[in-house]
Order: sequence, then structure tokens, then C-alpha cells
Amino acid sequence: MNYQSLSPAELIKEKEKAEGDYRMYCESGLSLDLSRGKPAADQLALAMPMLTEHTDEFRSAGGTDCRNYGVLEGLPEMRQLFSEITGIPAANILACGNASLTLMYDAVARAMLYGVQGSPRPWGREETVKFLCPVPGYDRHFRICESLGIEMISVEMDAHGPNMDVVEELVKDPAVKGMWCVPKYSNPSGITYSSEVVTRLAKMETGATDFRIFWDNAYVIHDLYNETDPLADIFALCKMYGHEDRVFYFTSTSKITFPGAGVAMMAASEANLKQILPIIGTQTIGFDKMNQLRHVRFLKNAENTAAIMRRHADFIRPKFEAMLEILEKELGDLGIATWTKPNGGYFISLDLPDGCAGRVYELAKQAGVTLTPAGATHPYGKDPRDRNLRLAPTFAKLEEIRPATAVLCCAIRLAVAEKLLTDRQ
Ligand SMILES: Cc1ncc(COP(=O)(O)O)c(C=O)c1O
Repeated sequence: MNYQSLSPAELIKEKEKAEGDYRMYCESGLSLDLSRGKPAADQLALAMPMLTEHTDEFRSAGGTDCRNYGVLEGLPEMRQLFSEITGIPAANILACGNASLTLMYDAVARAMLYGVQGSPRPWGREETVKFLCPVPGYDRHFRICESLGIEMISVEMDAHGPNMDVVEELVKDPAVKGMWCVPKYSNPSGITYSSEVVTRLAKMETGATDFRIFWDNAYVIHDLYNETDPLADIFALCKMYGHEDRVFYFTSTSKITFPGAGVAMMAASEANLKQILPIIGTQTIGFDKMNQLRHVRFLKNAENTAAIMRRHADFIRPKFEAMLEILEKELGDLGIATWTKPNGGYFISLDLPDGCAGRVYELAKQAGVTLTPAGATHPYGKDPRDRNLRLAPTFAKLEEIRPATAVLCCAIRLAVAEKLLTDRQ
């Protein structure tokens, strides 16, 4: 049964059926949460030995006393571990504090205050500064722009990444200084940028001589299955095409060890680091090396880190699969929703008929299921088509995923039936 081909009488019947199911869910007193892209407690438990093993160690491999000030770039062994994970030379990597979001905010704020390597003037002294924002995207990236007065331009994503024809056209504007990218298991679509997209990003000519890509590879090794989605090396490609300074690269161990108590990294070209390091050195005498030491002792190397990530995947994968199973069962043949089936990351992205996302969010909330607010995946919190919702299966318990998704599906059936009936009046 496809909703689009139902007669008005059949649609009314469907709506009444959905209303009946919905009332039953409302009366059952559920309180479930699909809004939070956080690891669950059983995942966090995997990293507890980090706090209890090697507790009296304080010297790095090179003999540095990690209890004391210094080593602004971070411990060499932590930079080396990030290098193994990302494929970027350790010399281009800074191992920093507890959150990559801080590094991203600082990178943009620094550009506004001081400019970046090669800027004619600080970005903040330009009349307008614009960033390209692939959508659906990560709300906290958008908040950084909003808070610093940067105009955001949405660019639609498909299964291969942002629409590059549109990107290549928009970057001709010299006011476009930056672009956000979550290139692997993107938040929220879960897609990974194709090699063609990454190559075009590295190669394209830009109007601004100081254009930067903010490459947030938060889900760099966060696979759900043994196979990984391959991602081309933006760092090497930018160098190859003579745009070595184009990329600011970020990731962290937030979803490998502890969110908020992990280690974050930033990587950039030698010239970029030369401009940035004195400014960071004004902010801090050095990041938390004791935490970095704990991390390298616990994670050891890329291979062992990958083994830890497989244990994370064992917790997360059944939750994704349960959610996808219910979506397929409840909505599969109705023609009213499409959703992504990611191979990694923390999210599923759901697209509904235009004008339905806000209503579904409200209906689900009233029935006891909290979703990320509709609009959050777009700049300024406004999805112009009001159709996208971000689903986060990781934090809820496995046994909660099926009932929560069933409520969501019921809310979708009801909201879409209402909308179709109104549209046909
Ligand atoms: C795309 C993306 N970037 C960054 C973060 C936050 O990372 P961190 O904990 O390193 O600040 C998240 C967290 O959900 C994320 O989804």
C-alpha cells in the first residue's frame, strides 16, 4: 500500500487506524529517548581499565615528566597514534585537550580574530564571511557559525557527499571562507564522501585565497561492520593539487574512550601550524599530557584501537539493526519515508514528505519518545522543507529501540495521512 495512491476515503481510514495506534501508545506511558548521539554505559565501561592500569606512570617514552607544564604540540606517542589512525604525518598533528569541538570553535574564532595563513586581513574585518554547510549536518557546527556572525549557505548532500557542482560554483565567491565537512559516517546521514567528492574538494579553485575546509572526521574508525567505507586522504590530495593549506583536520577519542574526557587532535599544513601554534601557546602552556599518556598506554596502537572499536560496534550494531528492521517493517511499502542505512557512525537520517518533520517530532514527544528537534540538522535550526529528522540509536537500551521506533513510525503514518488529506482539500 502506497499512501500517495490512496483515495481520500482510504486515507481517512488509514488516518483513523494510525490515530487508534497512537492513542494506545500515548496511554502506555513510554519514556524513551532517540535524540542523543552518545555512547551507552556498556560502551563507556570498555575504557574503565584506562583509569586503573598504569596509575603511577608519568613519564612519556621520551622521558618527559607528563605531570609538568610544556610540550605544546602534545606527546609524540599520542601524535603518532593519531597519525596511524588518520594516515596524516605525525609532524602535522597536534594532540590537544578533551574535545574536538573546542578545537573547531577555536580554529574559526582564531580566523575571525587573526585570519589564517595567507589571509589579507582577519576574517572578522571582512564585510561578510560565509561558510558552506552540507545538509543535513551537525547542529554544533552551525552554532559556531551563528555565534560568530558567519553567514551559512546550505548545500544538499546525496549518497556521495555534498553536491560538488553547487560547491564549485559557490566557492567562486571570495566571501566564502570556509566549509564544514563530516566526511565519514556523516552526522546525521551516515554516508561517506566518495573519492570523487574528496578529490574535487581538494582540487577546486576558490575565490578566497584563504579558504579553509573544516574536516571533522569524528567517526574516522567508527565502523559497524568488519568492512569500512573507504575515505580518500584529503590531506594528501590537497598537497597534490597545490592547496596544502586548505584543510584543518579534526578528530578525537570521544567515542573511543570517554566523551568529554578523551583526547582531541587537529592537523594542518606546516605553514598553518606555524601561524597557529604561537596563538595556541598564548592560550595554554600545554594540554593535559597525563590524559594523553593514559590514552596511549591504554589504546597502544591503531590495531589495538581497532579491536576496541569492534567491541563498541558489537554494542551499537544490534541497535542500528533493530531500528532499521522496524522502519522497514512499519514503513517499507508506504512510500512516505526514506532513511539511510549507515555502515558506521552514530546516526540514521530520516526524510519525510515536506512539511511533516516538525509534526512528527511533536507527536512522538507527546507519546513519550524524544527525538532531536526537527530543523536541528540545518543552519539556523530551520529545515526549509521541514522534512528531515536525525535518529540516534546508540544511547537507548537495545530493548527500548523497537518500541521507540514503532512509536516514531506510528507518528509518521499519522502526520503524513493528515498532511495528504489537508493538501487534497
Ligand atoms: C560530527 C561530530 N563532530 C564532533 C563531535 C564532538 O566531538 P568532541 O567530543 O571531540 O568535541 C560530535 C559529537 O557528536 C560529532 O557528531
